[in-house]
Amino acid sequence: MPDIQQHLASSQKVDFEDLDWALARRAGLTAREATMLQYFADIESQTVFYMLEVAKLEVARDPELLTFLTMWNYEEYFHSHAISRLLRECGVEVPPPMKRATSLRARARLRARVEDLVQMAMAKTMPKAFVSLWMAWGAAQELLTCQAYEEVARTTGNPVLSELFRRIAKQERRHFAYYFTSARERLDGFPAGQRLVRLIFERNFNPVGSGLKSPAEQAAFISHIFPGRRLFEAFGELDDKMASLPGLSGMRVATAYARKIQPMLEPGARWSPATPGAITESAAAYASSRA
Ligand SMILES: [Fe+2]
Ligand SMILES: [Fe+2]
Repeated sequence: MPDIQQHLASSQKVDFEDLDWALARRAGLTAREATMLQYFADIESQTVFYMLEVAKLEVARDPELLTFLTMWNYEEYFHSHAISRLLRECGVEVPPPMKRATSLRARARLRARVEDLVQMAMAKTMPKAFVSLWMAWGAAQELLTCQAYEEVARTTGNPVLSELFRRIAKQERRHFAYYFTSARERLDGFPAGQRLVRLIFERNFNPVGSGLKSPAEQAAFISHIFPGRRLFEAFGELDDKMASLPGLSGMRVATAYARKIQPMLEPGARWSPATPGAITESAAAYASSRA
């Protein structure tokens, strides 16, 4: 199993009180960044509800898993706080993070509720395969989150946003490492688990947050972070990593998602490997939207 002691030693609340808020205010946020940050805060704020759902499962009563989940939930909690602070400093009025979290949850789409029920049924009937799936799913979502924070950190014109997202991404990468190592160890020599994970990923893979937003809202959010070709590059990296897990070789679910959302995007933001010229238009539109 992954070395939980190492995670314990490095777990902490993300530092954000020390950031240069005056500089953040001077640099400001583009309208697109302000919308994007609220989406990030929305997704982060839901972790605690996810935690409440999994805490009901018998399979979560494993000492190491409980240790990890406690640290993970604590760290995620402050991601939404830090992002809300940055938004407010830059003049975007947002509700307090937990108020945001509870009202969003009340409006949670049917999909999120159905997922909770399916999850409970699976955990009861096939606990070992379920935990493998949970870990693999967590690995994919944490890696995607990490890629998203790193992408914004690299591309934003606001140095404080960049620094904050670099710090958050570091924690997301640790979360990914835990889920991924755990998935690898649980799937190794467990063909039934491998088949289940592949089946669920191939039928249901969706980036984190799909229960909170409509498919079109989610597609727009993702394509704003990863415009044009970048979407296929980042999602291709995600696929490469996940396909290295036992029994998942050749799996390309993230790339399939990137293709699937193209028709939902504004015409200028679409790109597909078959139409490489579109990237120029998409990148130019993106650059001007950030100017
Ligand atoms: Fe997070
Ligand atoms: Fe995370």
